[in-house]
Amino acid sequence: MKKDPNLLVGLDVSDDAGVYKLTDEIALIQTLDFFTPIVDDPFNFGRIAAANALSDVYAMGGKPLTAMNIVCFPIKDMDNSVLRSILQGGLEIIHEADAVLLGGHSVEDPELKYGLSVTGVVHPQKFLTNAGAKPGDLLVLTKPLGTGVLSTALKAGELEESATMQITELMATLNKSAAEAMTEVNVNACTDITGFGLLGHSLEMAEASNVGLKIYAEKVPVFPAAKSFASMGLVPGGSYKNQKFCSKHLEIDPLVDPILLDIFSDPQTSGGLLISVPEEEAPFLVQKLKEKNTPAADIIGEITEEKPGTIQCC
Ligand code: CO
Ligand code: CO
Ligand code: CO
Repeated sequence: MKKDPNLLVGLDVSDDAGVYKLTDEIALIQTLDFFTPIVDDPFNFGRIAAANALSDVYAMGGKPLTAMNIVCFPIKDMDNSVLRSILQGGLEIIHEADAVLLGGHSVEDPELKYGLSVTGVVHPQKFLTNAGAKPGDLLVLTKPLGTGVLSTALKAGELEESATMQITELMATLNKSAAEAMTEVNVNACTDITGFGLLGHSLEMAEASNVGLKIYAEKVPVFPAAKSFASMGLVPGGSYKNQKFCSKHLEIDPLVDPILLDIFSDPQTSGGLLISVPEEEAPFLVQKLKEKNTPAADIIGEITEEKPGTIQCC
């Protein structure tokens, strides 16, 4: 098949979104994400699904411009007001992202699903992939982990109201501020932490960049209640799947708490950005993230030259 010279990031790599050059100044970023509800409140589900879908544009170092709704709705069994609340929640977050809703499409489906197709823009020489990490870089994470474990606890009716509100707000928080901080510093690579968990997305970065990745287990920000629920066995099936998928490329120091591994492979919804930044720039990035009040701004590891395609947890 003929390769289009304007295709900058495509299907041949596992990155967050596609990038297509329009002019020497502008490239399009395109992405699509939708899923079933993870919280009971329709408005908040809409906010979370929208923040999650918009995140892939931020992960590429871009700015969202337009969004379109994608809806699967059980019109016979569910009141239309539920759908209206979902779309209102989504729209609130689209506006927060300074993007515009253009329309969308809905189909009848017994299982409710909602998300967005998002188009963003970036300079064709300034987009960030997961393939640019360099030995000596430090890794920075902008949201704590644990939303998969806590959503499982929520579904089991085990999560307190206050914790439910906290993870709802965490998942509805856009990666906008984190992406803005990132553009003020020279960073080498970025991705967002979603369904494959910290380990899965780290492995993608290690393989795409052909480097090794070392995670300082105790430095990774974890949502407080997640550790205790994980030790009670409330770990989503996806976490074990992710761990198994990564296992051949993992080296774990025996001193690392096994509960942390469950959390590092926990599938995240609307997780934070994982940023690979040159060591000398890392303090500026952390400072900018803190100024912008991102949910976390922690140095959680480093990029190594040895053991390319391997993750060491120590
Ligand atoms: Co992504
Ligand atoms: Co995605
Ligand atoms: Co249509």
